[in-house]
Amino acid sequence: MSEMPLVTSARSAEHETDKQTKQEERGLITPRTNTPAVQSKDHWTHSAYKASAPFVPLLTQEIIQWLDPQTTDTILDLGCGDGSLTAKVAERSARVAGFDASANLIEAGRSTYGSVSNLSWHVLDCRYLEGSEEIKEGEYDKVFSNAALHWILRDASSRMSVLRGVYRTLRPGGEFVFEMGGAGNCADVHAALLAALVHQGISIEKARETSPWCFPSELLMKNMLEEAGFRVQRSKLEYRPTELTSEKEGGLEGWVKLMGAQFLEVLDTEDKTEAVVREVCDVLQTILTHEEDGSMYLGYVRLKVIARK
Ligand code: BEZ
Repeated sequence: MSEMPLVTSARSAEHETDKQTKQEERGLITPRTNTPAVQSKDHWTHSAYKASAPFVPLLTQEIIQWLDPQTTDTILDLGCGDGSLTAKVAERSARVAGFDASANLIEAGRSTYGSVSNLSWHVLDCRYLEGSEEIKEGEYDKVFSNAALHWILRDASSRMSVLRGVYRTLRPGGEFVFEMGGAGNCADVHAALLAALVHQGISIEKARETSPWCFPSELLMKNMLEEAGFRVQRSKLEYRPTELTSEKEGGLEGWVKLMGAQFLEVLDTEDKTEAVVREVCDVLQTILTHEEDGSMYLGYVRLKVIARK
């Protein structure tokens, strides 16, 4: 990032402020004021996750190939969730540390894989990785992340700090290997949620602000990684429609309640919450359903990257 030019008039000051705000919004620079967000409510329960999104740790063959864990590797798993993938990575590496903001999911990981000696579990709001005493400079060979960065990078105000934290904790030559939602991810359900909130009296601006996700294009991600000091070795954006579960507590309704919990939180009554969930399911019913067998698919778009320190 080039240096900011000197401000010589009120008009140019205004212009620079606008420019900086736009860069902040795009996640390219750290904002001037960085008010720490309050630790979010823990929406995750292991049972809801199993019912509505069990495919998350399963559709990972390619990103694990990209990670290519070695028996000498120390690996940090950023946003490790319930740890099922973390445990698989640990089978092929020297030591793995799983970090996640959800105490519920970390507890699930610890209770299932507590006996795995080269695995450790850490509750941390990963937006604050950079300032955390839990990570040390040059500690890891690799940082891995699957299906978590779209939450962690949501706030433009802490995006660059997260990437700098990842950079700091890697050894020179270490790799940041991740898969996340990319531009256009789940646009079907995202649009339906925004519209349903508006129909319950929430302004479109507030509805957009409420969205807990950041789904960057390949170019935005590359720019941010380079800004943090990385060199991008490989990246790929692909459309990967993903089948929803047919579990009683899962399906589209379970997915919306779990993944869209933060959208629903802005509503002040149970009735409004139910109306939003119902509207999203009704609007998307025929769009997502494959007529031949009634299966339902969400329009997932995956962004995969290997970036080197
Ligand atoms: C994803 O893993 O791509 C995803 C997660 C939550 C909401 C939408 C998409």
